[in-house]
Amino acid sequence: MAVSLRPQQRDDLHLLTGGESPFDDFGPMSRPEQPRPARLDADGGLAVIASDGQLAGDVSWHWMQWGPTAGSRCPMIGIWLRPEYRGRGIGTAAQAQVAQLFFRHTTVNRVEAHTDVENVAEQRALEAAGFRREGVTRGAQWRDGEYRDGILYAVLRADPPPSFPV
Ligand SMILES: CC(C)(COP(=O)(O)OP(=O)(O)OC[C@H]1O[C@@H](n2cnc3c(N)ncnc32)[C@H](O)[C@@H]1OP(=O)(O)O)[C@@H](O)C(=O)NCCC(=O)NCCS
Repeated sequence: MAVSLRPQQRDDLHLLTGGESPFDDFGPMSRPEQPRPARLDADGGLAVIASDGQLAGDVSWHWMQWGPTAGSRCPMIGIWLRPEYRGRGIGTAAQAQVAQLFFRHTTVNRVEAHTDVENVAEQRALEAAGFRREGVTRGAQWRDGEYRDGILYAVLRADPPPSFPV
């Protein structure tokens, strides 16, 4: 699936509504009130453009740190697609592209993602995009009034690329 990523614009926001998926509904804080910044060295995001040229959704990232020094920092990515653009390979392609963006343009060793144990579509999309399942994070995510178990995924710089061109 040919997709492209571009900086978000204010006009995108009315289509980036969120909330149609139980796995991406974190209440009033879910959706950005402004376009996310496109810079890779801070928390940010990009618009996902489908092959028809339309806005399919957005990808975003926030920075994590597993050790005490900045050398252990890595981005954790997230994605939301408009319902009509789901199930066409866009989530797979977009998440593979974001990981490559970080490997090409920053020195990170690892790009992470995290999803609900019940979010099978996202688990399959991540695996197809080259991410590996690392383990269950018990009670890690507060969503819709409950702590939920999640699954941590990551792709390392040295991991094999996905089976499609990125
Ligand atoms: C999760 C999401 C990003 C996946 O992207 P997508 O473009 O719909 O997924 P893809 O078309 O790339 O499909 C990936 C795989 O999931 C499978 N899949 C798609 N929808 C599915 C569903 N509802 N249930 C189970 N599997 C599903 C596909 O068959 C495919 O598997 P395969 O390659 O083994 O055939 C997208 O559906 C979405 O935005 N969902 C709502 C928000 C969300 O859950 N975001 C992630 C929060 S962590």
